[in-house]
Amino acid sequence: MYIPPPLSVRRNKLSIENFSVESLAQRFGTPIYVYSENRIRENFQRLKNAFQKYYPNFEILYAVKANNNPAIAKILADEGSGMDVCNPAEIWLSRHLGMPKSKTLYTGNYCTDEELAYGAKYCDRINLDDIALLPRLLKFGKPKVLSFRINPKIGKGSVKTNVFAGPEAKFGIPIEKAMQAYAAAKKAGIKRFGMHMMTGSCVLEPDYFEKITGILLDEAGRIARRLKIKFEFIDIGGGFGIPYRPEEKPLDIEKTAQLVTKIFREKCHQFKLGNVTLMVEPGRYFVGDAGVLIGTVHMIKESYQRFAGVDVTINHLVRPKMYGAYHHIVVANKFRKPAKYPINICGSICDSGDILAKVRPLPKLARGDLLAICNAGAYGFSMSSQYNSRPRAREVLINDSRATIIREAEKIEDLFLRCKPTL
Ligand code: LLP
Repeated sequence: MYIPPPLSVRRNKLSIENFSVESLAQRFGTPIYVYSENRIRENFQRLKNAFQKYYPNFEILYAVKANNNPAIAKILADEGSGMDVCNPAEIWLSRHLGMPKSKTLYTGNYCTDEELAYGAKYCDRINLDDIALLPRLLKFGKPKVLSFRINPKIGKGSVKTNVFAGPEAKFGIPIEKAMQAYAAAKKAGIKRFGMHMMTGSCVLEPDYFEKITGILLDEAGRIARRLKIKFEFIDIGGGFGIPYRPEEKPLDIEKTAQLVTKIFREKCHQFKLGNVTLMVEPGRYFVGDAGVLIGTVHMIKESYQRFAGVDVTINHLVRPKMYGAYHHIVVANKFRKPAKYPINICGSICDSGDILAKVRPLPKLARGDLLAICNAGAYGFSMSSQYNSRPRAREVLINDSRATIIREAEKIEDLFLRCKPTL
C-alpha cells in the first residue's frame, strides 16, 4: 500500500493532517485542491538545512509559478524565502505579500518593454534572458544588481518540455556569449552582478546538479577574472524533483547539497570569487507533494475498456494530458483494498485526452468513491484552465486541525465575467 505525503492513515481513515479525506470532501465539496502547510514548511526546512550547513551564504527564492496562491507563497515567505518572479503579475503578488524589493529576482523571457519597465520599477535584481534586452532595460533605469540567465548547453528534465537548457532551448544566453553579455553590462556602468541558470525541471539525480554547477562556475570564474567584476550571487535555478511514481526514490537532498556546495566552494576558491551567495529557486520541491486533488467518482462505464467518470478533469489538472505525467491515485474510502481492477479515470471534458490515469489498477470502483490524486501541489492549480466552460476548483489549506479556504471555486457566471455585452 503506497500512501505518499501528505496523506497518512489516522483513526483508520485516509487523512491529511487531522482531517480525513472524506470529511474534507463532505465539508468543502469536490473537486478540491488541499494543501498541507506543515508539509510545505518541512520541505522548505529540509532543503534549507541541507544546503546551509555546508554553505551558510545561501539564499532561497520560491518559484511562485509552481503555485501562486498567495496563502501558499506567504508560508514560504514566512519561512524566509525570497521570490523568483517571472512577470509583472508575479512581481505584483510579491509586493502585495510585503516581499522586499531586495528579495525578489525577476527572471522573464522574451519580455516586452512594459514588462521590463515594471521589473525595473519594482525589483532590485533583474535577470536577463538575452543580451539584446540590456539596452531596452536601461531605458527604464539601471537595476541595482544585474544578472544574466546562461544556457550551459546541457539540460535535463522529467519530460522533453521540462528541459530548459541545451542546444534546442529557448531560454538563456549561450554560454559562449556570456562573456560578451557581462562586458556589455560593465560598459553600460553596471556595478553589481549575479549569474543564473535554470536548466530543467523535476530532476532526481544529485550529481546532475553538481555537474551544472561546475560548468556555470567555470564560466563565472573566467568572466570575473577577465572583466574584473565581482559576482554577488550565483543562482543554479530550481528543478529539484519529487517522486511521482511509487517506484521512484526521492531526490537525496543531503547528497545534492553536499555535492553542489563542495564544487561551488572549490570553484569560488580556484577563481578567487570571494564569498558569493549560492542561490536556488525551487518550486515543485516545496509545494509539489504538499498538495492533493480530491475528486468523486460519479459513474462507471463498461465500454471496450472500463472508465470511471470523476468530477476532476484536465481543466483542473492538465499534467497527465500535457506531459503524459503520472499522478498516483489513492481511493480514500477503499485504500486498504487490493488495487487489481484496471480502469481509466476520466473527466467530462470533450477531449479524448481528458484521462487522468490510463488503465490504472485500483480497487474496484463504484459511484461515490473518493479519489485522492497525489503530488498535485505544483503546476496543478497554477496550470488549470476554464476549458470546456469548466470553473476552476476550490483550494483549501490545512494546518493541523485548521482547514481554511484559500481560493473559492469559480462559479459558472465567473466564466463570462469579462464578456461584452454583460450577460
Ligand atoms: N526558475 C525558473 C526560471 C523557472 O522557469 C522554473 C520553472 C523554476 C525556477 C522552478 O522549477 P521547479 O523547481 O519547480 O522545477 N509545468 C511543468 C514544469 C515547468 C517548470 C517551469 N519553470 C510541469 O508541470 O512539470
